[in-house]
Amino acid sequence: MNATSSPVLTVENLSLAAGDLVLTEDVTFSIAPGEMLGLVGESGCGKSVTALSILRLLPEPPLRIAAGRILFGGRDLAALSPGAMGRVRGGEIGMIFQEPMTSLNPVFTIGDQIAEPLIIHRGMKRAAALTRAAELLDLVGIAEPRAALARYPHQLSGGQRQRAMIAIAIACTPKLLIADEPTTALDVTVQAQVLGLIAKLRRELGLACLLITHDLGVVSQVCDRAMVMYAGRIIEEGPVKTLFSSPRHRYTRALVDTIPARNLPGARLPAIPGQVPAPGARGKGCAFVERCNAPLQRCATSMPPFARDPIRALACWNPVQ
Ligand SMILES: Nc1ncnc2c1ncn2[C@@H]1O[C@H](COP(=O)(O)OP(=O)(O)O)[C@@H](O)[C@H]1O
Ligand SMILES: [Mg+2]
Repeated sequence: MNATSSPVLTVENLSLAAGDLVLTEDVTFSIAPGEMLGLVGESGCGKSVTALSILRLLPEPPLRIAAGRILFGGRDLAALSPGAMGRVRGGEIGMIFQEPMTSLNPVFTIGDQIAEPLIIHRGMKRAAALTRAAELLDLVGIAEPRAALARYPHQLSGGQRQRAMIAIAIACTPKLLIADEPTTALDVTVQAQVLGLIAKLRRELGLACLLITHDLGVVSQVCDRAMVMYAGRIIEEGPVKTLFSSPRHRYTRALVDTIPARNLPGARLPAIPGQVPAPGARGKGCAFVERCNAPLQRCATSMPPFARDPIRALACWNPVQ
């Protein structure tokens, strides 16, 4: 992180629960201005609930923020009122999700959907907002942007829909973009184009981004730093190059080993044997112990602390040397 600039977002000891069930625990990280931070881990690890909690979009109840703080622009989002949170969401923090067809509204044109946040958050008149919407469509690489304004979501391809979602997300020039599996539903070529677009926006707009994916290959293409999540906890964090060249947690190691040669985006991860333990089925120690190839006795009984050095952080009793 750049020492001279304070983080855009700091998440401190965040724990999420569903009733009595602990979903994520003690999640701590921050994102510097303009930084691209990856969050990776297998399905069910708690990536999406973490993203949703930052936006205060958790289905509350049954889900809730059980502990921790989410500091953004001098406020704790975990304690913000729904009204104040509505101004942050879409205005100061943009978001894109895996399936644009469920996030886009089928009965409104693309133009109106991009114009909406500009009208709500920036007080623009509809005509001016539509002009800006066309510029945004051009920025995200949609051909003939003026004509595209009048189209409905079903009239666009999957890749175009994801580009339109990104245009909506960045319409109000947010400081932070949260992207949850933004390319998972796309074919390999389009996936690479959308990742290229996110990288371009980050360069041109100085946008910080939390990029969530189950695919370490995706992270390696565009992120500066990454966190690896396992069974609701961050177990390793560091610069992407370091994580790749010398993973220290054996789960990170296993993820790296499953990346196909040349990191082809979209290639499916061969499964790591075993399964992520469900919330409620985790023991007192490290949740990876059952799948680990070098467990010590204490790994099953005692939770390794998340220890930080100047470059990286790790929670493991017996790291790869
Ligand atoms: N609405 C919900 N009610 C209860 N449990 C949930 C709900 N949503 C997610 N979970 C649980 O939270 C855990 C984390 O889920 P999720 O964040 O979607 O994982 P990921 O995005 O890493 O695949 C999973 O065990 C999932 O079953
Ligand atoms: Mg998810």
